[in-house]
Amino acid sequence: MRTFGLRYLLLLTAAFGVFSAATLSKDKWYRERKAGVTYQIFENEATGIVLQVVKNSGICEKIPRVDQYSGYASFNEVEHTFFWFVEARTNPTTAPFAMNLAGGLGGASTAELFTQLGPCHFEEGESTPSISNTYNLNQNVNMIYIDQPIDAGFSSSLNLAGSTDAAAPYIWNLLQAFFAGFEEYENRDLSIITSSYGRVNGKKIEIAALIIGNGWYDGAIQYKGIIEYSRNNTYKPLISKNEANAYMWEYYSQCLPAQELCDRSASYENCRNVQRMCSLKRYLIDERDEDVYDIRKRSIYTVQGVDLGTPTEKEVVHGYLNRLDVMKAIGAISSWDDSSERIKIRFGEWAVDARSTLNTLSKVVRSGVTTLIYAGDADMVDDWFGNLDVADAIKYEGTSTFANKRLTPYAVNGLVEGEFKSFKNLSFLRIYEAGHTARHDQPALAFQVFNQTMQKTAISST
Ligand SMILES: *[C@@H]1O[C@H](CO)[C@@H](O)[C@H](O)[C@H]1NC(C)=O
Ligand SMILES: *[C@@H]1O[C@H](CO)[C@@H](O)[C@H](O)[C@H]1NC(C)=O
Ligand SMILES: *[C@@H]1O[C@H](CO)[C@@H](O)[C@H](O)[C@H]1NC(C)=O
Repeated sequence: MRTFGLRYLLLLTAAFGVFSAATLSKDKWYRERKAGVTYQIFENEATGIVLQVVKNSGICEKIPRVDQYSGYASFNEVEHTFFWFVEARTNPTTAPFAMNLAGGLGGASTAELFTQLGPCHFEEGESTPSISNTYNLNQNVNMIYIDQPIDAGFSSSLNLAGSTDAAAPYIWNLLQAFFAGFEEYENRDLSIITSSYGRVNGKKIEIAALIIGNGWYDGAIQYKGIIEYSRNNTYKPLISKNEANAYMWEYYSQCLPAQELCDRSASYENCRNVQRMCSLKRYLIDERDEDVYDIRKRSIYTVQGVDLGTPTEKEVVHGYLNRLDVMKAIGAISSWDDSSERIKIRFGEWAVDARSTLNTLSKVVRSGVTTLIYAGDADMVDDWFGNLDVADAIKYEGTSTFANKRLTPYAVNGLVEGEFKSFKNLSFLRIYEAGHTARHDQPALAFQVFNQTMQKTAISST
């Protein structure tokens, strides 16, 4: 986890420093020039949030007349969430509105502007991004990318949100303040696009569509799923039959009872115990030769020390977003961190978040939100076996019909790139030849299926 020195804190306090008044008395916009950057500042009375943004930085989205705003939502002196809003290229005042939240793997949503159906991308060998014209979600959707939880990306805080339950109100309040400041985008269908580990609070956020990729929702289902996947996935067996049997024994005798206790009682101690009793997942993913986020590839750890020649896409994004001229242009103050080093302690973080989110997810589906659960089938960490079992267990009016349906091919212009099933407001999609970042690996399919879901229609082949 990032630690912040005093010098850094002072720098941040000086950079924001709007919070001299205890409360903001009324909504107002004004401009302020700080450290050579002209910010537009919005104070929102209802939430007490101050937005501090740069308009049309010229970074990433470069099309004239397509507005973008990037900067911070400040909750108080020490908690500042970075967001980047890009309006739809066509009909922004009537287009749907979607919020992109990166999951626990990368953390920083701003990276996804460059890597996952965003307005720009890095061509191989490029160090500045090119504009994306084909698979770009903001073609016809207003997109907001939020660096959350609050220590991800350009966001910063001394008060790290320990669990996703703690982070949710921040996002909700940020949206309230954003819509108060940018009324032209309000009253639109709101979709949430998230991956890996976005806990959703269905009560607080009113949403039209929810898209979750390679998620971890329910340990009782998914600790079993990862054993089955490791043995029986369509790429290659990762463990022997005997190992699978041993892991299954451990699952039934230790892991499942611990998980059920945590789900029932939700005490911190009980949930922390899940981490210990369900260590089978850690053993399964640790020190594999395969990249556990995409078992088609070799682990970067096993090729460490070898000169790979070209930097990875992640390194390119990291280098670009930490360039001082880029940071200044987009109004960023702290350095950018994709928080991927936190993967190592992710199991620690899971203690508080070990509880099943299946009931919440079920509530979301029952409330009429068009929901798509998708999974790249080469991801081992949040594998598609478990994701499918979770989708089948969602409790809504169509549970038994949905669970009994078989997967059928999903095609883009006649080309089959996955398989799916759909009933009423719930759809599941397995994406072929795709890892944890399936949108990146199969952009044409992802673009089509996101587009369909955000229009609140059931997904279908073309
Ligand atoms: C793998 O698949 C085979 C055949 O369907 C089945 O008998 C076996 O139980 C599966 N193993 C695991 C660990 O899921
Ligand atoms: C989704 O749920 C809403 C509210 O329950 C319902 O009106 C709508 O018909 C559902 N959509 C589909 C495709 O079934
Ligand atoms: C996405 O949705 C828009 C608006 O309904 C439609 O015009 C467009 O053809 C769709 N694109 C794809 C690839 O589905």
